[in-house]
Amino acid sequence: MSVRRCCPEATRDAYRKSVNRGAHVELDKKTYPFELGWVFVMPSARGKKYSIDLTRAAIEAAAGKGIFATSRVGNHAMHAALKACGFLAIGEAYSSSRGVYKLQVFVRPAIRTPDRN
Ligand SMILES: CC(C)(COP(=O)(O)OP(=O)(O)OC[C@H]1O[C@@H](n2cnc3c(N)ncnc32)[C@H](O)[C@@H]1OP(=O)(O)O)[C@@H](O)C(=O)NCCC(=O)NCCS
Repeated sequence: MSVRRCCPEATRDAYRKSVNRGAHVELDKKTYPFELGWVFVMPSARGKKYSIDLTRAAIEAAAGKGIFATSRVGNHAMHAALKACGFLAIGEAYSSSRGVYKLQVFVRPAIRTPDRN
């Protein structure tokens, strides 16, 4: 599980554009600098809400910045975990380029902190 900014800039931009185009959304880099990537719980450990703990840890690592995620339509457990952690589904479900399934975009906007000046 990760929040990532790992691939080269051009690849990231192309990927972000493909998500925007597919879902008809506008995930700009400034508003959503992070993507929550691949939350995975071992099959033997599922059903104990660990996906929520993992997602919360990723949110903490993002230090209040905006995060987006994509998740397969029909992945009810992941969608429930995302919603429990403050993510909202946005845009339209779109066909993945990696297989015959659709993806839903979720976002967790940045947390505004009071101006300390
Ligand atoms: C998706 C995954 C991480 C979820 O973890 P999990 O251990 O199965 O689910 P959890 O116990 O953490 O439960 C998370 C939420 O989903 C709900 N849930 C669990 N299984 C569910 C199911 N089959 N249908 C509907 N909701 C379900 C839980 O009730 C909980 O929601 P709540 O807090 O609102 O009650 C895990 O199934 C997994 O690793 N799957 C394979 C990889 C994957 O699909 N990753 C997501 C990529 S975006």
